[in-house]
Amino acid sequence: MASMTRGRTTNEALVPTDLHAVYYAQRAAAGLVLTESAWVSKDAIGFVNIPGIYNEEQLAGWQKVTHDVHSKGGKIFLQVSHVGAVSHPDFFEGKSPKGPSAINPEEKTFTPQGFKDTQTPEELTKTEIQNIVTDYHKASKNARQAGFDGIEIHAQLFTLIPQFLSRAANQRTDEYGGNIENRSRILFEILDVAIEVFGKNRVGIKFTPAFFSSGIIRPDSETLADYEYLLARLNKYPLAYLHIVAPVVDLAGTPLASIKEDYFGFFRAHYQGTLMANGGFTFASANEIIANGKADLVSFGNLFIANPDLVARFQNNWPLATADVETFYTGGEQGYSDYPNYKTS
Ligand SMILES: Cc1cc2nc3c(=O)[nH]c(=O)nc-3n(C[C@H](O)[C@H](O)[C@H](O)COP(=O)(O)O)c2cc1C
Repeated sequence: MASMTRGRTTNEALVPTDLHAVYYAQRAAAGLVLTESAWVSKDAIGFVNIPGIYNEEQLAGWQKVTHDVHSKGGKIFLQVSHVGAVSHPDFFEGKSPKGPSAINPEEKTFTPQGFKDTQTPEELTKTEIQNIVTDYHKASKNARQAGFDGIEIHAQLFTLIPQFLSRAANQRTDEYGGNIENRSRILFEILDVAIEVFGKNRVGIKFTPAFFSSGIIRPDSETLADYEYLLARLNKYPLAYLHIVAPVVDLAGTPLASIKEDYFGFFRAHYQGTLMANGGFTFASANEIIANGKADLVSFGNLFIANPDLVARFQNNWPLATADVETFYTGGEQGYSDYPNYKTS
């Protein structure tokens, strides 16, 4: 089950509730449940009603979730994230969010007053970057203590790690900017601390290499070379898996046009560890990509929203229910924990 933010953490302290435990336990039959993303610190926040993993109260909330998933025989990883520059002063009592450089990512942020345009962030100092890595370390320790089987590092869309990887958003002149070795430094520092806490084969990472933001974070002529560098280094890391999301746009005419015909083949060719494919898969297309060796695992997002018993539906060829987009982020049980299992009679 792929990570899905569901906006159900409507309490001010951003603590996961009993409702989260019910929802995740309903989906425990997934081989591996990846939770919604959780903030690694208060500074990481940039979207409403998303839980955290940075204090004791949140840890205790998550403990109930892992307990209930484990008691149904499931495995569960926590996804952790930081949105960096794609936040808004509304989340920080009027203070600017911080990012790799003082450059407006030209995105939208979902604030308590609805969607707002991002602004020019403040540039993170080197000490602040080190503090962020420390926050990931603490979040990993909290996740482990909360009973998670592992952790997934959110490195997708326009969040902090892709901001550092982006030549447009990161124009630093110190060791965190410039060439790809420098732009990826924070990513590998985060992986190091997460692996230190969880050990081998317990840390995954998720990328959307073909994400075309409406703002400045988008693939460019060096993106494929950048990924060759990243994948070569990731091969040396004892990851649980590398999670790659399929494009949602036609790659023809983009800097990724050369991998249009065999997108996952590119990642398979450069990465020797466990590769998890994601993005629009069905039972048939998932089995196909595994059979042809282009992926080892497939995750499903949308399908798990309305089909808590997705595994049984696949196994028995039962019909699939359709999720109601209107209730994706609206809070409460409706459109969250009230989707029934399929009944055969
Ligand atoms: C409601 C919703 C919320 C999502 N939230 C997250 C998230 O918090 N973290 C993440 O990595 N991906 C998130 N995604 C993306 C999914 O994990 C997945 O990559 C995407 O839906 C494509 O897979 P699918 O076609 O099987 O749904 C979200 C998707 C949906 C539909």
